[in-house]
Amino acid sequence: MDIIKIFAPATVANVSCGFDALGFAINAVGDEMVLTKTEEKGVRISKIEGADLTNNIKHNAASVVALAMLHKIKADFGIDIQLIKKVKPGSGLGSSASSAAGAAFAVNELLGKPFTKLELTEFARIGEEVACGSPIADNVAAAIYGGFILVKSYKPLEIIKLPVPKNLWVAVIHPQIEVKTEDARNVIKKDIPIVDAVAQSANLAGLISGLYTDDYQLISRSIVDVIAEPYRKFLIPHFDEVKQEGLKAGALGIGISGSGPSIFALCKGENDAKKVAQAMREVYQNSTIDFNIYVSKVNTEGVKIL
Ligand code: HSE
Repeated sequence: MDIIKIFAPATVANVSCGFDALGFAINAVGDEMVLTKTEEKGVRISKIEGADLTNNIKHNAASVVALAMLHKIKADFGIDIQLIKKVKPGSGLGSSASSAAGAAFAVNELLGKPFTKLELTEFARIGEEVACGSPIADNVAAAIYGGFILVKSYKPLEIIKLPVPKNLWVAVIHPQIEVKTEDARNVIKKDIPIVDAVAQSANLAGLISGLYTDDYQLISRSIVDVIAEPYRKFLIPHFDEVKQEGLKAGALGIGISGSGPSIFALCKGENDAKKVAQAMREVYQNSTIDFNIYVSKVNTEGVKIL
């Protein structure tokens, strides 16, 4: 194989109760990438469409991953990358993760698949570190594995793929403002009161239990974030209103997608997801901020060949 075109899904990290530990991929939006083998060694980025990102190969989330993989395998060829960004940087939908996970998956295919998904996740974390200052795994693992994933441990990296209830849908509103992950991480308190740690871990356990047992009500009661949301919500205009109206319209739970500003709503079934999306839309329609809305099933396959 000398050329490959792939789709790398957008992702929702944290899912309220799983800060840096939980994530899922969505079907409705994702990046496209074309990677081509070149005779000349090394990596180059020949096209970036849809976002104002650097094509400096040492600073771009996709090229640093490709470079690391080629270096590791001592490849005797190089790679040209074309990025068609549909997941906007600073959206909270795992934009750098789509680039990094997409590059990891595609380079692995061009190399003849020498690496496991876990190893690809490790490589993709290099892209996350370059793009947002921390090698967080929740978004990249969700993009690579698809479905819901749990980052059970960072050292050593352990990823657990979780089941996705059949009728679980998501509505996402992406207000067109940029929140930098680094800034959103800086507003969170570094010390957590024990009562909050207990609540957060109990909700995470509740959510995972709900995913395994298809218990939508338990999922609903578990979408609670006492660690990040209370501090981050001030970075997102109308967050409380969107949450209130979305819940009134039937969402199981609503929270900040990753580091924001996107807001996700988990819903039972497509109809509820559409109603919730409409309620979220009405809040933002009355504001001066542009927005995009996605209604989607949870993506279960992760990065795929187009
Ligand atoms: N878990 C990360 C955060 C996701 O919330 O900061 C951002 O990429």
